Amino acid sequence: MARVAIVTGGTRGIGEAISLALQEQGITVAASYAGNAQRAAEFTERTGIPAYQWDVGDYDACQAGCAQVAADLGDVDIVVNNAGITRDGTILKMSYQDWKDVIDTNLGGCFNMAKAVFPGMRTRKWGRIVNIGSINGQAGQYGQVNYAAAKSGIHGFTKALAQEGARAGVTVNAIAPGYIDTDMVAAVPADVLEKIVAKIPVGRLGQASEIARGVTFLVSEEGGFVTGSTLSINGGQHMY
Ligand code: CAA
Repeated sequence: MARVAIVTGGTRGIGEAISLALQEQGITVAASYAGNAQRAAEFTERTGIPAYQWDVGDYDACQAGCAQVAADLGDVDIVVNNAGITRDGTILKMSYQDWKDVIDTNLGGCFNMAKAVFPGMRTRKWGRIVNIGSINGQAGQYGQVNYAAAKSGIHGFTKALAQEGARAGVTVNAIAPGYIDTDMVAAVPADVLEKIVAKIPVGRLGQASEIARGVTFLVSEEGGFVTGSTLSINGGQHMY
């Protein structure tokens, strides 16, 4: 039987590319989305991938959403925690709500989703969790204390959960994308973005499909010995 995957934030941007790449591998995919219903409907019509609306920052919604996907498509074998938001601003201008929203969605979403699927993966002795971190969680970024803290937290979360899943056949890995050609990056002021791109050794933004390729590697059957790792896909912008 085909594996079943949930890609959070899976109808747009990097998430859309991941959903499509997993489908291409013969995996049954469900994509979650937060609010853009029109885009989600268009995505489902184009790809045949069902889209489910829930807020990954909401614990109960994740429990209900994952249960619904399992009832519709089968036990969930793979989760890609991709859903993420930005609320950029220097700390002088950042509100408490901007801090909380980003932490709750980007980092809290990983916890909420893992709580919903990890027990079943352990019982069935097979699972793959891929958390989408960020170069800005590794290196920091001016104007992003919320986002950098959340993404850095994802990298720690990944290494801790990997230890808990290892004996049960559940791998947990992270990908740290650099600046990828998506709506999120397009929202960075043009003059700021120009300076950032000038510092990328390969000389361009990344493509969402280049992140998706990393995900298909990590969730593959042969990926069972890769766990607790962070795969940087950033055009050489940050090496360590
Ligand atoms: N280092 C040091 N100083 C900096 C700086 C930097 N990197 N960037 C700006 N400054 C300085 C400016 O020169 C300016 O100084 P002066 O007042 O002395 O002129 C001061 O900080 C204020 O800068 P801005 O005018 O830019 O301030 P702002 O409040 O209008 O905007 C900002 C601040 C929102 C952070 C804006 O600079 C910005 O959007 N930066 C981009 C942040 C970014 O890279 N976000 C990534 C989003 S995509 C993503 O997150 C995906 C991923 O995973 C990679």
